[in-house]
Amino acid sequence: MDRRELGTGTRLVRAARSLPSGDGQPVVPPLVQSVAFDYGSAADQDAVFGNDRPGYVYGRYGTPTTAALESALADLDAAGAATCFVTGMAAIAAAVDACAVSRGGRVVAPEDCYGQTRALFERWVRERGADISFVDTTDLAAVDRALADKPTTLLYAEVIANPLLRVSDVSALAALAKAKGAALAIDATFATPILVKPATLGATMVIHSLTKYINGHGDVMGGVVSGSAELAATMRDRTILDGGYLPPHEAWLTIRGMRTLALRVRRQCASAMEIASHLVSHPKIARVRYPGLPDHPQHALATRQFNGLYGGVVSFQLRDDTRAAAFRFLDSLELAASATTVGDLFTEVLYPAISSHRRLPVEERKRLGITDGFLRMSVGIEDTDDLVADIDRALDRV
Ligand SMILES: Cc1ncc(COP(=O)(O)O)c(C=O)c1O
Repeated sequence: MDRRELGTGTRLVRAARSLPSGDGQPVVPPLVQSVAFDYGSAADQDAVFGNDRPGYVYGRYGTPTTAALESALADLDAAGAATCFVTGMAAIAAAVDACAVSRGGRVVAPEDCYGQTRALFERWVRERGADISFVDTTDLAAVDRALADKPTTLLYAEVIANPLLRVSDVSALAALAKAKGAALAIDATFATPILVKPATLGATMVIHSLTKYINGHGDVMGGVVSGSAELAATMRDRTILDGGYLPPHEAWLTIRGMRTLALRVRRQCASAMEIASHLVSHPKIARVRYPGLPDHPQHALATRQFNGLYGGVVSFQLRDDTRAAAFRFLDSLELAASATTVGDLFTEVLYPAISSHRRLPVEERKRLGITDGFLRMSVGIEDTDDLVADIDRALDRV
């Protein structure tokens, strides 16, 4: 066919289908938004669909920009492969369902995990009869008892739990899980690979919400599950059939964001340490939870496990342990945003009682220590002195 004979409409819909080639490699990966991929040979296309050779066929099966992110994340996590999802929750749901719940396997999970992870697991118990037990994953004897109770397929933990900031011992959990033939899934969202790489300590799979530190700029939602190539094949089947694949534009922004992860996290950890130390002696504060403080129950473990860093999140309880005081504090902040996320460049304060832990029965929430005056601060990269002044001003008004 002579393309010059084609009509304008036909030429328009076929315009710019590939990038012009030339010398020089781009230093930033191209954003390939294409959903479908054209094959000159049906046999080649068949081979890619059949996994006989690598390639791209259709969005949910994998696309070049998201694949570039997946390969970078696998490297960052020291894992064999990684699969990206549209949100952290989609990653958690895919991993825990595929590796345990859908196969009738039992799960042992943390009682103090991210509120919506717990809400999802509780919903699976109610609606699907899933066998999920909740324990304190920092209490190794309790974990061992829970695993000994009944055959368990998956032990799940958050290495720094949201929002109480309890620290789990990944090597010890891996040993307990291995002894009972269970896999170990670690949500390392709060720690990031800058503090710890759970796959190197024996975790079977590592999950991050990319929405938090890894992207770090508050403009992308995403999640990732890292682990073996076999796990990646199972996760890919989830993106294909359940449809929760991370679109290329989000992947491109995440690649851009993660380039500064190490710089941001080190800075956030240093500021968080200063803020936690300042709050300890503040008369309006009843209790500070931060793994870097010597009175944190897992301080020694955190020191050993996290490369001398302790994370960018500080949680604290107001002495006036009421909702009214928490609201006054939030409303009085001028620099820190009262917003429901962590890991951004900007400082953000979350009030779990009305947000992440809203669905948890009030008695259970309070039993865990998430009281009415409990707040969680994700420290950003602003100048630390300005943050301390903002906190002090807001506390003065409580
Ligand atoms: C520890 C942890 N895991 C997973 C998630 C879920 O991530 P996403 O909001 O991207 O679905 C969150 C969200 O706050 C979280 O804090």
